[in-house]
Amino acid sequence: MIRSIVACSLVGWLLVAGPTAIAGGLDLHWLWDDRCAECHGHAGDFARRLERVDGELKVRHPIGDMREFLRHHYPVGHEVDALYRMLKAQAVTPPRFQAECQPCHGSAAAFARRRLALRGDEVVLAAGGRPLATALRDHGVIDTDDVPFFRAVLERVAREVHRQ
Ligand code: HEC
Ligand code: HEC
Repeated sequence: MIRSIVACSLVGWLLVAGPTAIAGGLDLHWLWDDRCAECHGHAGDFARRLERVDGELKVRHPIGDMREFLRHHYPVGHEVDALYRMLKAQAVTPPRFQAECQPCHGSAAAFARRRLALRGDEVVLAAGGRPLATALRDHGVIDTDDVPFFRAVLERVAREVHRQ
């Protein structure tokens, strides 16, 4: 209870404070879990069920622009566009991390938060700073052909979690 009050007032403050106060923006997966998951569940599963028209996401009822809808739905302050981009990417990402990696590593967001970091534009391992791509190639359980897919997923999630 106390935790949720603290979390609410924190997000309230961050949303009001806006991007000048936080250089990079909020951890989008945290924002989703805090504000949206209660009603919509897992973000990726939700996104894959959304309607897509010409590569953009559309709201079903009332039919229309999703960014406009999100501006008036549940408050996410300055993060509408960032959240929209996250949902758009998730909508076309098959849930392979969930199926093939989660049993050992937990969710992609939790993994990216704890184990990955951004060094300039590059996504690296938080411990030691090795490039993510190298770690995936050396992993052992990941087929070489699958490395680009998992690299793209984890790099995107790392950028959604560690905003710059
Ligand atoms: C208290 C419950 C509740 C919360 C919290 C909530 N939503 Fe919703 N949302 C709904 C309901 C109800 C609908 C309309 C029915 C539906 O499409 O699921 C909806 C619809 C949507 C849609 C349109 C879905 C479609 O297929 O047209 C999107 C996108 C969406 N919500 C995103 C969000 C985001 C992002 C957040 C967090 C910032 C959020 N919602 C928080 C209840 C909620
Ligand atoms: C059978 C369990 C298992 C599965 C499945 C698995 N991993 Fe791993 N992974 C490990 C172990 C064990 C390590 C080395 C110890 C550690 O870092 O947790 C590791 C390490 C890693 C690392 C390096 C992390 C670091 O900080 O050094 C990455 C990145 C990684 N795994 C990604 C993946 C991805 C992506 C998948 C899914 C395609 C996957 N793993 C599937 C067990 C697994």
